[in-house]
Amino acid sequence: MSEQTFAEYLKANSRATHDSVDKMVMSCQPFDNAENYARFLQLQAVFHKVVDAVYHDPELNRRIPDLASLARYDAVMQDLQDLNAQEAQLDIALPHLEGAEAIGWLYCAEGSNIGAAFLFKDAQEKLGFGAEHGARHLAPHADGRGKHWREFVGHLNGLNVGDEEREDALRGALNAFAFYKVLLKKIFSNHSFA
Ligand code: HEM
Repeated sequence: MSEQTFAEYLKANSRATHDSVDKMVMSCQPFDNAENYARFLQLQAVFHKVVDAVYHDPELNRRIPDLASLARYDAVMQDLQDLNAQEAQLDIALPHLEGAEAIGWLYCAEGSNIGAAFLFKDAQEKLGFGAEHGARHLAPHADGRGKHWREFVGHLNGLNVGDEEREDALRGALNAFAFYKVLLKKIFSNHSFA
């Protein structure tokens, strides 16, 4: 029996949560009109603001080359500006992430770039936004989404996290998805969730 890699472990144990988040996002019809899309950008902005510190963490940047360059908070803020929209004002405390839990959040944020292929397509085709205007943060990595993700997974697996840290990282990933749901419900407060 082959042993599960760290990335496989995170994927296998967060898949169901991921799929529920995917459904919730799409139920809000974020690409139906510019107003909904602006809310989606507000949601992405808060999420990427929280993980921005992880992408810029000096220790992680020593272990994952060019990690800081993958952060998408600035791009999502530019997208908001493109739409003349503001950041959401929310009455919730933003988590401060540390240790292996922060790696789980990073997995969640960076992995969201894979599904972003579909979101980017919708933003282009339904709303006319793109990598230069309005959907900068959904654009693919220069190496292509698939290749970049495989490389990133290699770096995650190369972190050599121990068993206890694996569990902490998974808790972080699940907390990240849970936090995303909280934000979604607050920002799309006009929507009735099933
Ligand atoms: C409507 C919204 C979304 C859609 C349609 C979507 C779709 C997808 C798809 C098709 C994949 C590839 C699955 C595979 O290779 O097996 C994926 C991967 C992933 N997505 Fe999403 N996603 C969405 C939202 C999100 C959000 C909001 C997050 C995080 C907050 C997220 C995090 C991830 C992660 C971490 C992976 C990597 C899984 C892995 O291979 O380990 N996704 N997504």
